Amino acid sequence: MSETKKVLAVVGSLRRESLNRELALAAQQAAPEGVEVVLAEGIADVPFYNEDIDGEGAPAAAADLRRQIADADAVLFVAPPNNGTISAVQKNVIDWASRPYGESSLSGKPSGIVGVGHRLDTTFSDAERSITIAGGVVPDGAKVEFLISSLEGKSPRESAAVAAPLRALLETLVAGELQSA
Ligand SMILES: Cc1cc2nc3c(=O)[nH]c(=O)nc-3n(C[C@H](O)[C@H](O)[C@H](O)COP(=O)(O)O)c2cc1C
Repeated sequence: MSETKKVLAVVGSLRRESLNRELALAAQQAAPEGVEVVLAEGIADVPFYNEDIDGEGAPAAAADLRRQIADADAVLFVAPPNNGTISAVQKNVIDWASRPYGESSLSGKPSGIVGVGHRLDTTFSDAERSITIAGGVVPDGAKVEFLISSLEGKSPRESAAVAAPLRALLETLVAGELQSA
């Protein structure tokens, strides 16, 4: 029996009642056997990326975020649309993860993208582009977008529409990992 695979959910909204945070919790509930979804901690404490403060003395919150990503078997980016693209919060995580140059904690990391919003526009393609440039790998089938209108006024955790696609995404995300374990 293979060991449990850990998927780190990186939520791009800091709002207390964020629907995207709820979506991450829905992924946690929908995870197939052998997969554990853990929400990344401390994102709100990570300052904007600045090369002047990176290196040996990098802020503890940024170093910890890199460690959380490096320790995960896969990452699930939960991406709210902000003005048609990924949130500054989400982009900041990717920027910190991508450095030092050549040592990205996302390097080769299977990365899924989910999100909920009124209109996703280019949010997912923008997320995929940044994640990929930072070294992550977005497998086919590892992107699922949800419209708020499809939730019928329910939280993502209570909506029947989200569990099955999230489960399928997580299976895709860890497929290589599970097969090779
Ligand atoms: C600064 C900002 C920009 C936003 N831009 C968009 C947008 O372009 N498209 C959209 O569908 N929703 C947009 N929204 C709304 C959120 O994406 C939406 O409310 C969604 O629920 C994600 O936020 P949440 O995870 O905090 O709930 C924006 C919200 C904020 C705060």
